[in-house]
Amino acid sequence: MLEQKNIGPKSAQWFSDHPMLMEKAASRKSSRLLRSTPFRLALAFGLLFILAFLVAGIITYQLLKRDLAEALDDSVRETYSVVASTYSPADIEDLVAAVAAYARLNNAEDSIFLLSGEKGKRLAGNVSPFAAEDGLSTIEAGDIGQKGDDRIRILAGTVGGNRLIVGESFAETEDLEHIALMSFGWATGGIVILACGGGAFLAARAQRRLDGIERAMSDVSAGDLARRIPLEGNGDDIDVVSTHMNQALDRLSALVEGMRQVSADIAHDLKTPLNRLKMTVEQAIEQGGRGEDVQTLLIDAREESDRINATFEALLRISQIEAGARKARFRPVDISDIMASVAEIYGGVAEDSGQSLDFTTRPASPCMVNGDRELLTQLFVNLVENAINHCPPMTRITLALRAEDDGFSASVSDDGPGIPEAERELVFRRLYRLDKSRTTSGSGLGLSLVKAIADLHAAHITLADRHPGLGITLDFPAQYQG
Ligand SMILES: Nc1ncnc2c1ncn2[C@@H]1O[C@H](COP(=O)(O)OP(=O)(O)O)[C@@H](O)[C@H]1O
Ligand SMILES: [Mg+2]
Repeated sequence: MLEQKNIGPKSAQWFSDHPMLMEKAASRKSSRLLRSTPFRLALAFGLLFILAFLVAGIITYQLLKRDLAEALDDSVRETYSVVASTYSPADIEDLVAAVAAYARLNNAEDSIFLLSGEKGKRLAGNVSPFAAEDGLSTIEAGDIGQKGDDRIRILAGTVGGNRLIVGESFAETEDLEHIALMSFGWATGGIVILACGGGAFLAARAQRRLDGIERAMSDVSAGDLARRIPLEGNGDDIDVVSTHMNQALDRLSALVEGMRQVSADIAHDLKTPLNRLKMTVEQAIEQGGRGEDVQTLLIDAREESDRINATFEALLRISQIEAGARKARFRPVDISDIMASVAEIYGGVAEDSGQSLDFTTRPASPCMVNGDRELLTQLFVNLVENAINHCPPMTRITLALRAEDDGFSASVSDDGPGIPEAERELVFRRLYRLDKSRTTSGSGLGLSLVKAIADLHAAHITLADRHPGLGITLDFPAQYQG
């Protein structure tokens, strides 16, 4: 029981106490090795290499064997004809002498010579008479009463009515074949070691890098978003894939960080109106308890909850726009036309606050882009409303539109207080408002929505200082030529 509780590091001692578990671990490791692609490739390549070498070796060996056999036949034929040429029809003595001389000079184990006369009587030679068919044939040394188990290649024929047999042992040929076979065997051994060793080395190298990727990805899955795949720096395919995966991880962690930021901001910023709502309700309860009129407080509470509701709706709307589903509704629209109607509708509002609103520069022809008319209208409305709300009376608000080489440049500018450089990026964050605007109405989502709509239309947005005032420029790409 005690042992089971101790789930500490699996030391060698621990494993030796648990032989079955050790076996399991070893078999897991080997099955992992068998499933590893680099190992399989190396194994397949190694086997193929060895097979190719064996096939080449066998072919070479067979050719060599054939050549050696032919050479032996030629040699036997040549010796036979040299011996036979000593025969002259006049008398047989020369032939007998020649055979006797050859038989004396040669060991019967290497070469045999036999001349037999009528009834098989031996006239000369180094072996006892034996019967052989005409032409080339192979016999065993034992068949003719010789020692050893060598084979002999013989040529038999009739010369002047006598039987002449000349033969050569295969021993030398077989020695050569044996040497060839041995060299081939050693070479095969070397090749096997080389193929296995080289394969294992290359497989281990590739496996090490795959393991690096696996480790990095499992760390990322476990929540370590800052983890990246280590690169070798040689620009090979694994490096290229790893670079792409690292880029995807960069983007992922930026998105997750953004989401975290947004959620934190939202939770933080919604606390204030919710607290306000709670305080109003508590005050109403208190006053109600004293029998006082709570109507005004309830109306306040309803307005506050409406505002909270509106904020949530705006947040949802921004998320939906960011999700990109509205792209399916894109149609060719004329931005010039949209800006003109916004200027017309808000001209009166600006005038009421003592400001002026003009659509100054406008190309003569329509400025068509592929987009969502309703969203683009909302974008310009938000910008114009901001200028009206955040600028004092006497401010001049100007809308302008210019056709560029690669699209259209639309701008909304004013000569109001502007946005300090340090806050120009921050104002696009959800619920972000400048401190001085806390007293004006608004939720801090107007510019977030503008950014989401601009991104959806692939429009680049820039905030600039107009000295004095704010200039917001939107560069729409020429997605649609009308
Ligand atoms: N034209 C402008 N002039 C000066 N400040 C501006 C202008 N437009 C936006 N701002 C600042 O940027 C902040 C964010 O704008 P926005 O997202 O539309 O929120 P809201 O208008 O609801 O406050 C505003 O609170 C304001 O401080
Ligand atoms: Mg606004």
